[in-house]
Amino acid sequence: MKQLVLSGGKPLSGEVRVHGSKNAALPILFSCLLFSEPIELTNLPAITDVSAALSLLSLLGVRVTRAGSESVILDPRAAVPPAGCDPALSGSLRGSLYLLGASCGRFPERMVPRPGGCNFGARPIDLHLAVLRAMGLAVSETGEGVFVKGRPKGATFHFPIASVGATVNAVLAAATGEGRTVLTNAAQEPHVLDLIAFLRSAGARISLPAPGTVVIDGVPRLHGTSHRVCPDMIEAGTYLLFAMATGGEIALRSCPPEQLAPLFPLLSGMGARIGTGVDTVALTRTGRLSPVSVSTSPYPGFPTDLQPQLTALATAADGESVISDPIFPTRFGYVADLRRMGATIVAENGRATVSGGAPLTGRRMTAPDLRAGAALTLAALTAEGESVIDRFDLIERGYADYAGTLSSLGASVKIADGDV
Ligand code: UD1
Repeated sequence: MKQLVLSGGKPLSGEVRVHGSKNAALPILFSCLLFSEPIELTNLPAITDVSAALSLLSLLGVRVTRAGSESVILDPRAAVPPAGCDPALSGSLRGSLYLLGASCGRFPERMVPRPGGCNFGARPIDLHLAVLRAMGLAVSETGEGVFVKGRPKGATFHFPIASVGATVNAVLAAATGEGRTVLTNAAQEPHVLDLIAFLRSAGARISLPAPGTVVIDGVPRLHGTSHRVCPDMIEAGTYLLFAMATGGEIALRSCPPEQLAPLFPLLSGMGARIGTGVDTVALTRTGRLSPVSVSTSPYPGFPTDLQPQLTALATAADGESVISDPIFPTRFGYVADLRRMGATIVAENGRATVSGGAPLTGRRMTAPDLRAGAALTLAALTAEGESVIDRFDLIERGYADYAGTLSSLGASVKIADGDV
């Protein structure tokens, strides 16, 4: 198992090119099963979740041709329906759940194995199944996975909770289904909109008449297309928070400011000066950090995927911060390690109360999941002495060239392989 070894205390400064979005890349990759022509994807992040998705698609008969480190051509013409394909592989990533919607286009029957992904508490799939059932599909859960039968028909469905995954599955199923599907209270994260833009470039008829409303008129087939995956707002936000924590100056390239705009008031309130360009965001910390009070909510709210990093940042602020995560209330598994580093945090009932200002000391820790691994990194960057973060593989699931980027920003960092 690989570890990330960091020595804290250096401000992170410099320029970062934001990679393609993990949460856009995964549904777009799986959507290739809707196609009967090859597609080309560029700006794919070099992360292990993408490699796992490509391996899974290969197992399903998709011909995967790498066209550079961030580009791929997918030829799905010989694809076969999922039928309990390699559970170890699909169990390693949450995105395999998108096989539910993506396999609706060409295959009358399919068995989608249970998904894996970040383990930060209960991640129900009832809404995925409910919207597919509303489209007239026969859906049953077995020990092996989810068995789906039939062709999707147009439906009207209101999501009681805005769910990224269930919205994606509904859009995928409806794109080549019969008739009109209307989704309300649908997720509108930039990565959901990127999937929609991609499908439209392939001939799908999808419109967004109002915020949270998606109307899909099924088309008989999608044609081959080429798409550049949108930038990763969570990766971008993570590096902004690292610069805040260490008191550095950072400039993000390939970073449309409008995607991150919902974060700016919060970061400014904590003590950041933010400048934006056409495709750039620059952040400088102006002085000491002020505490924050925030709750996660669907886009354009504060993202749950930045909650752990923000909680870690709050340990460096002067005063008490309160950070709630009603989307994933048990996503605080990293707090015990922050406390061992010297932080004063109480995490209960989906909320962390952080009394900031106590100095942190480096130590050995274990990343419990991807974003929590980034939170521990942030803490290690501000701590005195060396920290070792075990399970670096979980961080590699979603951050491309992580250690290289940190190093280029001036961090003292290395990857160790084995016991350190
Ligand atoms: C996706 C992302 C994940 C990110 C999360 C929040 C992928 C592969 N995963 O996960 O990285 O952390 O969005 O941005 O893109 N819910 C239900 N029933 C369901 C589905 C969801 O109750 O069937 C609830 C969840 O428990 C949660 C809320 O809805 O409280 C939102 O979850 P959702 O947006 O679906 O997250 P994921 O798609 O799992």
